[in-house]
Amino acid sequence: MTLKETYQQIRQQTLDFCSHLQIEDFAVQVVAFASPAKWHLAHTTWFFETFILKNHLEHYTEFNPHFNFLFNSYYNNVGDRILQANRGNMSRPSTNEIFEYRTYVDQHMQEVFNNLSDTSIIDLIILGLNHEQQHQELLITDVKYMLGHNPIFPVFNKDYLLVKDHNSSSESINIPAGVYQIGYQGNDFCYDNELGVHKVYLNDFEIANRLVTNGEYIEFMEAGGYTDFNLWLDEGWSWVNKHHINAPLYWHKIDGEWHYYTLAGLQKVDPKAILTHINYYEANAYAEWKAMRLPTEFEWEIAAEHLNWGTRWEWTNSAYLPYPNFKKEHGAVGEYNGKFMSNKMVLRGASVATSQNHSRKTYRNFFNPTERWQFTGIRLCK
Ligand SMILES: [Fe+2]
Repeated sequence: MTLKETYQQIRQQTLDFCSHLQIEDFAVQVVAFASPAKWHLAHTTWFFETFILKNHLEHYTEFNPHFNFLFNSYYNNVGDRILQANRGNMSRPSTNEIFEYRTYVDQHMQEVFNNLSDTSIIDLIILGLNHEQQHQELLITDVKYMLGHNPIFPVFNKDYLLVKDHNSSSESINIPAGVYQIGYQGNDFCYDNELGVHKVYLNDFEIANRLVTNGEYIEFMEAGGYTDFNLWLDEGWSWVNKHHINAPLYWHKIDGEWHYYTLAGLQKVDPKAILTHINYYEANAYAEWKAMRLPTEFEWEIAAEHLNWGTRWEWTNSAYLPYPNFKKEHGAVGEYNGKFMSNKMVLRGASVATSQNHSRKTYRNFFNPTERWQFTGIRLCK
């Protein structure tokens, strides 16, 4: 497939997901960290307009001079921007205008593809496509957050259940102690935070080839997991008490039975299905209760070729830090990953919501330890 065809396919996938939304769904923002669908549609388009069309297409005229302020996410190098929490305040520009913006930018991108030889522009387009794929996953999780906080629990689409996966293996993998190489070494795309190949020493460890299930987590809950401070990190214990947490996100006890909101509507919790929507503190407390631990991101990467992975983003015990030899690019593109390397934990793997061809064993996802609206899960290690 040519780059032009890949561009068209990935841009279309974003629209395909949105075809299940009602017009009123596009603008709503329930919480600062979950953006409106309309904003995702525009921001991914802004990325191509800002980094490719404005810089590399002669005589290009921007679609709307206000859009840089409205749809810049966090790039200080590109100017001022709207507060993240205010993204849902924009009833205007209308959703239709955003669709026109996408068409306008896509048409001008065709001119770029018709005369494409500069490898630095090709690299930027590939980055823009990976960026759009990341936002496709955020679209799913943000829409779930919005509809999951609607008191009538609307069905988004019956094909988007996304929480039904079961483990296919119950074995454990033993990895011997030794010096191992970490980081991306291929010739395809990877993010800058995966580069800086380096060696680490790992003690021997045992890692589960399965993820924790809902039924196992219910055992933790029924054993008083959420009320035993000995299981919790201090920040986690404060979080539990401040927010009165007693179950994973989207769980509701109805007539004595646990249910959860899925994009296919409210359903009874399947005890055999793989747990999701827990944060780092919950993952850590569960591991503590089992007298085990979460793997480090390095253990995870070395064990990955033996593991079934890809249904949940798996919390690791590693803080999100630069690898030795990490090089940040100059300018806006250097803001993509590097500036977030504090107070976040690494998640490895991929999830049922991750776009196709957007996962690899060196991929480093990262979130605040309190966040649980992504499709997160727990893999145990000792
Ligand atoms: Fe973005």
